[in-house]
Amino acid sequence: MFFDLNGNLLNADDSLGTSWIGTEVTSYKQVQKEEKFIGLGEKNGESRPIRESLHQLEYRLFRIWHRDDPLYMSIPFYIGIHDKGAYGIYFDNTHKSVFNFGASTNRFVYFSAEDGDLDYYFIYQPTVAEIISAYTWLTGRMQLPPKWALGFQQCRYSYYPDSEVYTLAQTFRDKKMPADVIYLDIHHMEAYKVFTFDGEKFSDPKGMITRLKEKGFKVVVIMDPGIKTQQGYLPYDEGLENGLFVKYPDGKTYEGQVWPGWCAFPDFTKEETRSWWAEKMAFYTDAGVDGFWTDMNEPASWGQFTPNLIEFDYEGEKAPIERHAISTACKWPEVLRKDRFFQNPDKRPFVLTRSGFAGIQRFAAAWTGDNVASEEHMLAGIRLVNSMGLSGVSFAGYDVGGFAAEASKSLFARWMSLGAFAPFYRAHSMINSNDAEPWAFGEEVEEISRNYMKLRYRLLPTIYSKFYSSSLSGLPISESLAIQYPLDENIYLSAFQNEYLFCDAFLIAPVESTKEITKVYLPAGDWYYLFSDKKT
Ligand code: GLC
Repeated sequence: MFFDLNGNLLNADDSLGTSWIGTEVTSYKQVQKEEKFIGLGEKNGESRPIRESLHQLEYRLFRIWHRDDPLYMSIPFYIGIHDKGAYGIYFDNTHKSVFNFGASTNRFVYFSAEDGDLDYYFIYQPTVAEIISAYTWLTGRMQLPPKWALGFQQCRYSYYPDSEVYTLAQTFRDKKMPADVIYLDIHHMEAYKVFTFDGEKFSDPKGMITRLKEKGFKVVVIMDPGIKTQQGYLPYDEGLENGLFVKYPDGKTYEGQVWPGWCAFPDFTKEETRSWWAEKMAFYTDAGVDGFWTDMNEPASWGQFTPNLIEFDYEGEKAPIERHAISTACKWPEVLRKDRFFQNPDKRPFVLTRSGFAGIQRFAAAWTGDNVASEEHMLAGIRLVNSMGLSGVSFAGYDVGGFAAEASKSLFARWMSLGAFAPFYRAHSMINSNDAEPWAFGEEVEEISRNYMKLRYRLLPTIYSKFYSSSLSGLPISESLAIQYPLDENIYLSAFQNEYLFCDAFLIAPVESTKEITKVYLPAGDWYYLFSDKKT
């Protein structure tokens, strides 16, 4: 039982306490009156598509496990809120776990893992904000990213050849739409082989990047962890020779299929692999690349699941992937944050990741992965970013405009305007989809997009200051209302579940682009309408 200093009960075990069924361990917890549960990072839903998650977690069951799933991040941390106080529970167990907030029982809530210890941290602080701060004190906080990473970023799967990339960069400048970053997705490589540029599409990558820099753009490249199993391809030969790949227990290299076809997977839980990879990164940094986008790092292989018995080194401990959710997802971005491949040690790295475990915020920004161009996904992305913020991941965003399918004009315009108030602001779209740059939807949408992009840049001093304070406090930039108004029942209503505070200054009330009017809930305090300064 946990009490605060005044004797108020914060949290208690159910009389069943803890159960061990085989190796599976479960902790059963009483539910306090009117208790709300929030958190669990990006995991707040079950079936596909699972982005219609609510702000709260009640009556739902969540599985935490790494796989190529529409919600990729695994953060076993939640916050309970009731009228006697709030607390956080961080279940420090990387095995496959389940969090059940009353999906199949009204007696208790529970969390459970298939194996490992019942190690959890109980965090009590007087406010939800202080709970998050304490949790990030434990698991780490975002490092201040380079300022350019807070600007607008343009991506697509994929921009090529180099002439198309120049045209893209020039169009932003001609149209006076501020933007800082262009992404090169998997087509920049030769046959999707990491550490290569496709010589036909990009004959002079360094020259191209220099020209883009002259126009004020940074270039971020995608990197997937699958190394094509092709003899004569140096990263494969070297990895094989030095035993740097993930293996089966009998010592044979594990091979799975990703973009390049059959691949071997570097074992980033081994220092040797990390230093090797860091050295190889000179390939990109010499060409002038400024940031890295680590994708498919669950690690993904077509078919979603990697066999449970494949072994990771885990710094010499050797354990099957079955035991750990951390493997490639966290260890890889960590390599990239080591700064060892940047010549200038003062340079702040930018790494974007799809997958991660508790603490990933120390190494990378996160985006919510492959969404769909729909009103629901637009709003769900906002909730996911807010939920990641409750779980320590401050620097997060979603594919503006929707990755798969085609956005309508109004949806794209709305998404661009909302994205201006997301910590990470990047438009992205899928291969073979229609053009989805901010000018591709006609003049009106272009004008709306430009206005919001400009507003984003006008707000940069505020946003940058907030990033700085977040790097010190661990508190989110995009803030669920449950942080400041935990006992206000209205904020949990589905009608208001998308509202959030941005940079301590703005109350954002996202609405579907199909709606002309909507009800907005204003929590306690004085509120002013942004565009007129009028008090509401
Ligand atoms: C994955 C990523 C997506 C990327 C694509 C091709 O689906 O989530 O963002 O564009 O791979 O690299």
